[in-house]
Amino acid sequence: MSEGYGFGKVILFGEHFVVYGLPAIASAIGDKTIAKIEKAKKFELVDKRPATDGYKMTKKDEMERSMKLILDFMKIDPVKTPFKITLSGNLFCTSGIGASAAMATAIARAFSQYFNLGLNDEQINRISYEGEKGSAGTPSGIDNTCATFGGLLWFEKNLKGGENKMELIKAKHSIEIVLGNTGISQETKLVVEDVKKAKEADPKKYEKLFSNYLKIVKEARGVLENGDIQRLGKLMDENHHLLREMSLSCRQAEEIINVARANGAAGAKITGTGRGGYVILLTPGKSIQDKVAKAIEAKGYRTMKTEIGV
Ligand code: MEV
Repeated sequence: MSEGYGFGKVILFGEHFVVYGLPAIASAIGDKTIAKIEKAKKFELVDKRPATDGYKMTKKDEMERSMKLILDFMKIDPVKTPFKITLSGNLFCTSGIGASAAMATAIARAFSQYFNLGLNDEQINRISYEGEKGSAGTPSGIDNTCATFGGLLWFEKNLKGGENKMELIKAKHSIEIVLGNTGISQETKLVVEDVKKAKEADPKKYEKLFSNYLKIVKEARGVLENGDIQRLGKLMDENHHLLREMSLSCRQAEEIINVARANGAAGAKITGTGRGGYVILLTPGKSIQDKVAKAIEAKGYRTMKTEIGV
């Protein structure tokens, strides 16, 4: 039997913008998906990952596409060499947390071990990117990069097809966050396509959104490095406003954000695909983190408490 893992992630700045070559900042989180592979009579995929209700149904097609892309890319024939893949781990799956990339990375690592391929992280990341095509259509590569390497990353997709730019950011200190789960799952591919259509229909609006965003992300990097948490929160709020203008928020996300702000969150935005999924709330200090999580849970939403920049 072999085993592999992939980290979940949160995008602090730049979901969707990153697809068009703008920089984004993302942080891996400690929660992981684990893939185990063992010999079997026929190919079988067993999914024991904890997930939001409806997540696995919504993502069924994506998952099948990803699996096929990974197998084809690695030239593995599950009919000739049948095996059973079991997915588990503590990453609670819903849109926004990089669950599909964590899965693809975990599977790639497990295959590497199962077939004694000795793949390094760059190769695992490349396979995971292939799997991400099944989920995001034209993925930026940020999710698989976080899932594979972990850490706090500055990421720029190379639109010409060459190597993406990836730099580790050294945050001044780690910061507590709460992730609020809207309970809604979205297909990343469809949402990315919608944004593309909206951009084509109104290029002037998107030019302005892009230039406003670029100022935000450039400042955010310095702010993370010098540890100005209040300013970081304001920049996250500004990024969220842009995402709202791109129709990427939803009623539940706005409710979570309002409750978080009223309970002391320094900043809040949707993270990842949007129109549901997770909302990231900047909650410096354990007591604000607990207070915000409790207030959101009191409204009926699930939460996850973790840290960025560890
Ligand atoms: C999804 O986590 C992030 C998106 O920007 C898509 C991508 O980067 O591939 C929406």
